[in-house]
Amino acid sequence: MHSNEPKSAAAVKRWVEKHTRSTDRFQYLADKYEAHRKEHGCFDVYPFSNGPLLAALAAAAKPKRLLEVGCGLGYSGLWLAYGAGPRGHLETIEASKEHAKIARDHHKAEGLDKRIQVFVGDATRVLPALKGGYDLIFFDISPTESLAVLDHSERLLRKGGLLISANLFLGQFAPDIPGLEKTAEYRLRILDAARWLTGYMTDGTSISVRIN
Ligand SMILES: C[S@@+](CC[C@H](N)C(=O)[O-])C[C@H]1O[C@@H](n2cnc3c(N)ncnc32)[C@H](O)[C@@H]1O
Ligand SMILES: [Zn+2]
Repeated sequence: MHSNEPKSAAAVKRWVEKHTRSTDRFQYLADKYEAHRKEHGCFDVYPFSNGPLLAALAAAAKPKRLLEVGCGLGYSGLWLAYGAGPRGHLETIEASKEHAKIARDHHKAEGLDKRIQVFVGDATRVLPALKGGYDLIFFDISPTESLAVLDHSERLLRKGGLLISANLFLGQFAPDIPGLEKTAEYRLRILDAARWLTGYMTDGTSISVRIN
C-alpha cells in the first residue's frame, strides 16, 4: 500500500480538508471569517465546511432558482451560484446588515453579483413574503429558527427540488446552544419518507429531495 494512504478516519478527514482547501477557489473568503468574528464580536458566522460540495450539488441539480438561508459573508453563496452556472439565480437571506454588506462586496468582486440577491432581515420575516418554486434551498442558520425555516422550505421548494441542511449536529461543538431540541426534530422530520428522500453525512450536513 502507498505509504501516504490515509489509514484512519481521522487521517481521511485530514486528507479531505487539506485537499478541499487547497483547491477551493473561494477559500480566501472562508479564511476571513475568523478575523471578522473577532472584529465584529459576532459568534455565529462560520463558512460552510465544503463549498465545492455545494457547487457540485448545484451543478448536478441545475437549479434556476436558489434560496440560501444564512448568507454570512458570502462564501457559500458564491459556490452555489458558481455551481448553478449562468442560468441560476440565488436569493440569500441575512439578518446582519454588516454581514450582508460584506457579502455583497465579495459577490461583486467575483463578478457574481448579478446572479445573487441579498435580502437583509430575519429569515422568519423574509421567508413569508417569498413565493414558491425554488429548485434548491440551502439552510445554514441557528437552531432556534430551524423548524420555522423547514416549514417554509416545505412550502417553497418544488417537488424534486433539493434541500441542503447544515449544522444538524451542533450539540457536539456547543452543547448549550439554544434550540438544539428544534434541530433534533428537524433531523427526524427530513427523514419522513412520505415527503423527503434524505441522505445524511456524518459532519452534520444532509441532502434531501422533496418527493411530495
Ligand atoms: C453559519 S453563518 C452562514 C454562513 C454562510 N452560509 C457561509 O457558508 O458562508 C449564519 C449566518 O446566519 C445569520 N443569521 C442567524 N440567524 C438568522 C436569522 N434568523 N435570519 C437570517 N439570518 C440569520 C448570521 O448573522 C450569520 O451570518
Ligand atoms: Zn459579524
